[in-house]
Amino acid sequence: METGSRVAVLGFLLSLLLSPGGCAEQIDPLLYEEQLLWVSGVQGQVNTYRIPLLSFTPKGSLLAFSEARKLSEHDKGQKFIAMRRSTDKGATWSPTSFIIDDGAMIDGLNLGSVVVDEEVGSVIVVYVLCFNHYHCSPSSTMMVESKDDGLSWSKPRNLSGQLGVKSFCPGPGFGIQKRYNPAKGRLVVCGHGTLKANGVFCILSDDHGQNWYNGGALKSIPYNQNKKAQDFSPDECQPVELTDGSIVINVRNQNNFHCRCRMVVRSHDGGLTLPVDSLYFDYELVDPAVAAGALVKDGVLFFTNPANEQHRVNLTLRWSLTDGKSWVKKAMQIWAGPSGYSSMTSLDSGSVDDEKYIFVIYEKGHTDYDETIAFAKIHLFGGR
Ligand SMILES: *[C@@H]1O[C@H](CO)[C@@H](O)[C@H](O)[C@H]1NC(C)=O
Ligand SMILES: *[C@@H]1O[C@H](CO)[C@@H](O)[C@H](O)[C@H]1NC(C)=O
Repeated sequence: METGSRVAVLGFLLSLLLSPGGCAEQIDPLLYEEQLLWVSGVQGQVNTYRIPLLSFTPKGSLLAFSEARKLSEHDKGQKFIAMRRSTDKGATWSPTSFIIDDGAMIDGLNLGSVVVDEEVGSVIVVYVLCFNHYHCSPSSTMMVESKDDGLSWSKPRNLSGQLGVKSFCPGPGFGIQKRYNPAKGRLVVCGHGTLKANGVFCILSDDHGQNWYNGGALKSIPYNQNKKAQDFSPDECQPVELTDGSIVINVRNQNNFHCRCRMVVRSHDGGLTLPVDSLYFDYELVDPAVAAGALVKDGVLFFTNPANEQHRVNLTLRWSLTDGKSWVKKAMQIWAGPSGYSSMTSLDSGSVDDEKYIFVIYEKGHTDYDETIAFAKIHLFGGR
């Protein structure tokens, strides 16, 4: 063997050792397995499951949540928060438990954000009651917490005393705990307001969820007034943290201001401000105005949405090796048919296995996107 080819072989072996799961340039996603976690209309007590959330836990489990709408498919109405738990990386799931029951509220609970505090090992779900002020007042921002990997949950706590009583619907998606400075350790949960008082709003906690305060806002225009088509109305959103410590928030463009695509806003101060100067429109991320998924894993930014300007169909996974400045041309179609809200997570133990997968939860159907909630385990390196 020539010296040159020996060096090449050595280099190849080294690269295998150094990047056991494959590297970002080799991403070639493969649907590894998929199962339906919830099916609307077939389980007693629940009419429709919607608004799926997915989270890792500090112990390496997965928790899936959804709104279990008791009487109809509508956003208002009485609901449970449904949860299922997997301790084997999504292969099998616990039966559904209803961790919250809003009783018979006419304008019941809405999800919501799930945020993991890795410093103390807790999982927090933030949700809203009476978001629309429909036969009720005021709106309350609520949280429940699990300190035992999702097995049991605290009594609900009302955060509106600390935050004020304005209508704030978290997420839907996950909140983040800052891993880098500024404000390492801070919990950041972002969400939106009512259609009139819409915008992206973040709430923050620097003491593991004991005390919360209002952070940055990116308000709609005209604020607190009825909107017209094409008005500026930032809505449901998903924050992620980049390695420079900034928070990038991918936002639903409710009234198609400027484009039928996603808006992105970035905070450089740990969520204290969401400067309008940082706002841009990502024309590649065409969108029918929906809650989308975003996730950073090993320096790669992933994005899921129904990639269609008009309809909630064609759930698509994209990825960016440049923090969202550009997207790899090759996208992965997860489901061609009706598909709605989506959210993602991954496990991060550093094990070779955990580097290979991301997990997507999304609304999936044949005729309507609210027929089922599907969990998809995606192998990032084409099964290798
Ligand atoms: C939550 O707290 C606010 C402010 O104290 C209060 O107005 C509201 O009624 C409370 N909500 C619930 C559900 O207890
Ligand atoms: C689905 O998404 C893919 C990837 O972006 C795109 O190439 C395709 O045209 C889309 N199809 C429809 C029907 O929107």
